[in-house]
Amino acid sequence: MMVPSERALHEAIQVSPLDLPDDVKRQKIENLLAQMRLSAATARKIQDVFRSEMNKGIHQQPSSLQMENTYIPELPDGTEEGLFLALDLGGTNFRVLLLELVNGVVVREDVKKYHIDAHLRTGSGMPLFEYLAECVSNFVISEGLQDVELPLGFTFSFPMIQHSLETGILVTWTKSFNCPDVVNKDAVQLLKDAIARRGDTRVNVLAVLNDTTGTLLQGATQDPNTAIGLILGTGSNACYLERADKVEHWEPERHGEREVIIDIEWGAFGDNGVLDFIKTDFDRENDANSLLVNSFTFEKYISGKYLGEFVRVILAKLSKDGLLFTRQVPESLLLVGSFLTDYISLIEQDTVNGSSVHTKEVLAKFNIIPDEEDLKIVQYVCELASNRAALLVSICVATLLDHMEREEVTIAVDGSLYKHHPRFENWMNQYITLLTPARKFKLIHAQDGSGKGAAIVAAIALRIKKRLE
Ligand code: BGC
Repeated sequence: MMVPSERALHEAIQVSPLDLPDDVKRQKIENLLAQMRLSAATARKIQDVFRSEMNKGIHQQPSSLQMENTYIPELPDGTEEGLFLALDLGGTNFRVLLLELVNGVVVREDVKKYHIDAHLRTGSGMPLFEYLAECVSNFVISEGLQDVELPLGFTFSFPMIQHSLETGILVTWTKSFNCPDVVNKDAVQLLKDAIARRGDTRVNVLAVLNDTTGTLLQGATQDPNTAIGLILGTGSNACYLERADKVEHWEPERHGEREVIIDIEWGAFGDNGVLDFIKTDFDRENDANSLLVNSFTFEKYISGKYLGEFVRVILAKLSKDGLLFTRQVPESLLLVGSFLTDYISLIEQDTVNGSSVHTKEVLAKFNIIPDEEDLKIVQYVCELASNRAALLVSICVATLLDHMEREEVTIAVDGSLYKHHPRFENWMNQYITLLTPARKFKLIHAQDGSGKGAAIVAAIALRIKKRLE
């Protein structure tokens, strides 16, 4: 017998069944998609596994969660002042920002986006870092600041081992980057060297950070209870404020720090097989179609780089099995990577509105003219995939809240999936509450933590440096 609270959880996480007049067809589709539905018991099991992996990671035992010390031991306190450069590398665009902080608040912001071609993202590391340094020079010179000493915070949104606030040894590339010769190298040193080789600016790289860390810090300027930073974008990850005495990996001398930000790197959750019990055939195909096969298991369940492809794999299967688009299997839908996660957000908007305008527009891109049943099935697949992603994220957040044992926690969130998907935030609020009813939490949107947060980290790094001098 399920206890009432578990029954409520179980019922809340179930997407309503597909509504089709043709019973046989409906049943066939439900049977194929049943593997994507998670029960309350499975949700609890994932919580247990996540908790155990977090504990192992923080105690330096083998785990799929890195739980990396970021060496950021304090939040902004409103005294941050000055002109800072920020670099943001993680998505397909590379951004350089000039930010002026007064009393911890950004009062001026100049931003320039630079596209990074696929050959730079997936070739050797040298040309990539040469290009990053070239963009920095181009930006600084265009601002007329080439003779000014500029402290820089580098948002490098990939898993890295940190020996200090200004080292970041790349563990593995993720998302759309894969320059193999950079793995195990210090991305900060590569950047510093490339900037020094040009010698045309006076940029001083002070700190490296993850986008989740930047988001937490940016959130802290909006709400002092902020203690978790969460990214739901191309990739996904979270960081949180941990008690310093719980953290074993701490290389530089300690100076009485009470807290420190830990980068969980939850994209890799399950890479050691601990999550295999939820892996579906569609996940296996999604992984096989990705740039870095057999890695970043959890990220492939939930993030913007992969959700669209996950849905495409399912639609293609249903179509090949004669259950969808029965007039013809659309060739265009067989193309790996053709179904963007933003399409899911649009289709989900239709589900919310009880409409099919966006769904038809999206399918028109694939030269598909759907019938009424096709529309329902496509919307259903998008709902199931999105809902599973939101539930998985909520499970990890709820477990993290339990682990932190704070009175109240504000979670700063950023990322394209979170911003564009019409139901993610609601589902998260609902599921986290059901998973951990005693915890008080709030989700806030921290705009551009990966940019502004980098300036804040550079300012904190300067403050710590001065204090220790
Ligand atoms: C990276 C993380 C990052 C996340 C969100 C993941 O692929 O490993 O470091 O925080 O993407 O950008």
